Amino acid sequence: MCGIIGYTGPLEAKRLLIEGLAGLEYRGYDSAGIAFFRTDSKIQVIKQVGKVAALKEACEGISVGSHCGIGHTRWATHGGVTNENAHPHQAGQVTLIHNGIIENYHQLTEEFQLQDELVSQTDSEVAARVLDRFYQGDPFVAIQKLVGKLEGSYGFCILFADRPGEIYAVRSVSPLVAAYTHSGAVIASDLTALIPYTQSYFVVPEGEIVRLTPYKVQTYDLQTFAKTQPPVMTVNWNMDAAMKNGFPHFMLKEIHEQPEAMKNTILPRLSKGLPDFTDDGIDDEIFRSCTQVHIIACGTAMHAGMVAKTVMEPLLRIPVTVTIASEFRYQQPLIDEHTLVIVISQSGETIDTLAAMRLAREYGSQTLAIVNVKGSTIARESGYVLYTHAGPEIAVASTKAYSVQLAALYLIACRMALVRGKYTKEQARTFLAEFLDVIPAMEEMIKRREEMKAVVTHIINSPDAFFIGRGLDYAFSLEGALKLKEISYIHAEAYAAGELKHGTIALISDQVPVIATATQDNIFAKSMSNVREVKARGAFVILITKEGAKVDGDLADIHIMIPAVRDIFTVFPIAVVLQLIAYYASLGKNLDVDQPRNLAKSVTVE
Ligand code: F6R
Repeated sequence: MCGIIGYTGPLEAKRLLIEGLAGLEYRGYDSAGIAFFRTDSKIQVIKQVGKVAALKEACEGISVGSHCGIGHTRWATHGGVTNENAHPHQAGQVTLIHNGIIENYHQLTEEFQLQDELVSQTDSEVAARVLDRFYQGDPFVAIQKLVGKLEGSYGFCILFADRPGEIYAVRSVSPLVAAYTHSGAVIASDLTALIPYTQSYFVVPEGEIVRLTPYKVQTYDLQTFAKTQPPVMTVNWNMDAAMKNGFPHFMLKEIHEQPEAMKNTILPRLSKGLPDFTDDGIDDEIFRSCTQVHIIACGTAMHAGMVAKTVMEPLLRIPVTVTIASEFRYQQPLIDEHTLVIVISQSGETIDTLAAMRLAREYGSQTLAIVNVKGSTIARESGYVLYTHAGPEIAVASTKAYSVQLAALYLIACRMALVRGKYTKEQARTFLAEFLDVIPAMEEMIKRREEMKAVVTHIINSPDAFFIGRGLDYAFSLEGALKLKEISYIHAEAYAAGELKHGTIALISDQVPVIATATQDNIFAKSMSNVREVKARGAFVILITKEGAKVDGDLADIHIMIPAVRDIFTVFPIAVVLQLIAYYASLGKNLDVDQPRNLAKSVTVE
């Protein structure tokens, strides 16, 4: 969380920093701030509670020729949303922005007797003040000493008052990427901020210091200060991918991008009609030799794992466990060297997922990461990586990343079935051929978006909504409920339909919206009985089935039919339906679709 950008070069830094922060706002939008060297070489700080637009307004009329500066958009952790707590923080010679959490900031406050100096409640200011105490004119020595004192996670960008034109940065866990471009030197928390300037970049290695000058970006070993050379990476995202391109919101654009993202993720991995991960460097042995699969992720990515479990277990006949990453870390997980641990993360930076993956590696398990952001920490540290090719996902509510995570998981399921002898080549080919039918099915549901728009008038005035389904229908209902609650603020819960009568049905009363999905032929009749139970208690039933499903005329208040893809693939067109319902609900309530309250994309704090 928290977006970071730094720039030094020939361009006007103030404008560039504010534009960069606007692009990074999905990382946090409690406050924003910039610091830059003015032409008189003095550092000026401007910070403002609220979104980047408020900062931009605060900067208007301040005309400076600035060519070097840092900017920050905050997701509050320590200390409330106030101007004092906004970054950058200044202490003596030091001006600093921070992403992460300094866990021992209380101890540092006492050790360095900072109590009377602090003007904010943040852990970040403590780091700035400690750094200033260490600074005797040599940034490298001071940063080395600071890092030696810190516990927690951090990505810092630092200006030293007597070093105009220079930016120093260091990180542990929290991401930073940097590049030297034709327009100068840029550093940021996310690739999206670099895309306007370059497609070549490097990930700032942990344990190294980066110095940016208008002429160069150089990394140095934190201990020896010897120059280092991190590998250069390229990204094939372009500016269009990070813009709205005529859509009113990133979320709607990203929903529309799903069929393309699916093709980009699936097609390069098909060879002679079979799934093939040769180009990904994934060794079939990890699929063949495992005795169980353990999927670890958070939020939407974890919900993708829940769907995968319902598909993989019956197919592979081995245990497939899904664990929330933040829980996994503090369990004593039942995994070993015969476990295939699949971690799923759009950003590749979610700290709980990363820590869980590191733990799994300590247990000797094979790790396979399904990640969208190339070169992210999880991608780099995982034994194997399967990149999804969704392009940048900017809306805080994940949509296209979910679909492509599922696509990757279905490919893995098919490959595993093949190498474990559960599928013949012919069966695998049939699976994939039918799988590809989901792409036109998703396209169709996107075209029929007005149907979902009509649904929301029956939802937005209700404080609650329930999603029910069985089996796979339940697994993706979890995601439908999450989508609705995070952007419409309607309390939404998903239940296994058969479980309702064990308590929750007490909440069903007149006109309470129930979004019921029944797409699985083998349990269709059972699901219908559960729908009847809620209908009998006055629920407003929005029923989703496959085309051709036989439904009693009086059962559904609204009936949405998806194309009749094979049962195990219904999640794909339904994902579109549920995303659009959430989107239009948020819109109908006049809320901020792309940046819902209290949230941020890429959760890099525990
Ligand atoms: C919800 C959402 C989150 C993320 C979760 C994991 O719409 O986006 O629940 O799925 O924070 O993030 P990644 O996939 O980046 O690890």
